[in-house]
Amino acid sequence: MKIDVIRKLPEHMDTVIILHKPGADLEQVEYLPEPLAKTALGFIEAESYDFAFGEIKTFHHLCSKHSSKVILLGTGDPDKLTASKMRTILANVIRTAQKMKSKNIYLFVGYEIPVNDTIFGHILSEAALLSSYKFDKYLSDAKAFTVESIHVVMNTKNTRHINRGILEGKIFAESTILARDLVNEPANVLTPEALAEAAKKAALQYGFSIEVISLDKLKRIKMDAFLAVARGSKHEPKLIIMRYLGAPENKHDITGLVGKGLTYDSGGYCIKTPQGMVNMKNDMGGSAAVIGAMSAIATLKLKINVIGIVAACENMISGDAYRTGDIIRSMSGKTIEVINTDAEGRLTLADAIHYALEREKVERVIDIATLTGAAVGALGNQISAVLTNDQAWLDRLQQASDFSGELIWQMPAHDEYKEMIKSEIADLKNVGGPMAGCITAGLFLREFVMDKPWIHIDIAGTALREKEGGVNAYGATGVGVRLLTSLLRGME
Ligand code: BES
Ligand code: MG
Ligand code: ZN
Repeated sequence: MKIDVIRKLPEHMDTVIILHKPGADLEQVEYLPEPLAKTALGFIEAESYDFAFGEIKTFHHLCSKHSSKVILLGTGDPDKLTASKMRTILANVIRTAQKMKSKNIYLFVGYEIPVNDTIFGHILSEAALLSSYKFDKYLSDAKAFTVESIHVVMNTKNTRHINRGILEGKIFAESTILARDLVNEPANVLTPEALAEAAKKAALQYGFSIEVISLDKLKRIKMDAFLAVARGSKHEPKLIIMRYLGAPENKHDITGLVGKGLTYDSGGYCIKTPQGMVNMKNDMGGSAAVIGAMSAIATLKLKINVIGIVAACENMISGDAYRTGDIIRSMSGKTIEVINTDAEGRLTLADAIHYALEREKVERVIDIATLTGAAVGALGNQISAVLTNDQAWLDRLQQASDFSGELIWQMPAHDEYKEMIKSEIADLKNVGGPMAGCITAGLFLREFVMDKPWIHIDIAGTALREKEGGVNAYGATGVGVRLLTSLLRGME
């Protein structure tokens, strides 16, 4: 899809989107062809349409035998408009145009919007590319229709900024789409090995280095918590290590990104219900976010050092699968009593976090994981839960979230709940009981971060959508890619 900026609307257009605020006086808008402005004004009056926030109206305009589709998009009160809200309404209006089979869209920005040019270009790219996404590779009669071009018509002196934004937004969107594709891929196709191969392909394409560690070596380095979860599956586990060193002069300053990479989670012997299992191919959403973010930061050539770690495996049942009651010695040396084989993510993450800190010497670590049903219960499917031991760093993640539109909400990491994950016979147990499940899962992970700055992002609710809307399509959202990339960009 081509997105560019032009100065003036041509006389005949396939589709024109008019973006404006309440009280729009279209006759005053010098760039709008007069007949079009007249028809639009007539329509606005007849329908008492007033460019309320997010409101979309469509009609046809006939001019010397040429018919154009006209779509009105309201921004509401400019004082209440943010970049994130703007992204959502742009995504919705572009989806509307796409459903009307618009190939070439002219986006007419009717007033000086309160979003700067670079950011506008960025969110427009994201809105256009992400709202057009569809996972249709397995549909025999896939009817792929894509918008070919969006021409922005706005009153800007210098198109340099908006063009830069368009380019950046494209990188953010394409990395998000990479993550969506991985998450949407079913578990019979996306095995741990296939996930490692996909990461290798991304490494080659976007320019970061990669190493994949297989079973024998994983045993040698004693990643036994990770291996315990992987044991029940015929598909061998893979530890994926992705390195991007963009600030070699600061080579000890490394941020670690650890993504949960369960290519399938049946629950193991504590087996899930069919309903609980149906979406468990998405239990590698955290790893997809990490692979996507690595791709984005490498493409953007950020001057930072980042190492991404994914402990990829499958939680299955077999004569050799791990059981409840088992006591496992994690790579860190801490022993864990298994209370529930379905609380497997934290076991794989404990070893992956330890690996990042001890072997890769990262200075700080973010883990991102489809970790708990409790996070879904607490915050639903639009807000990810976060916990931290470093408030200042989380404040920066909040800023990244304000920009990316991927909402987060902090859960308390109070020490009072630590005793819920204490075991009588091991250092820790992997479940803290029926209460505060999102918090106790986070506190469990905190035990492995060696007091380094740490943020935990629970995306169990946000990795998947059942309904399209805004930048999201049905299925995987690719949540975390743009959030992490925005955060890391701010840490350059
Ligand atoms: N992968 C699940 C969490 C999950 C639930 C992700 C719903 C997406 C949607 C995780 O491994 C899990 O099973 N967690 C258990 C933990 C419990 C046994 C302590 C849960 O939340 O039920
Ligand atoms: Mg589970
Ligand atoms: Zn899981």
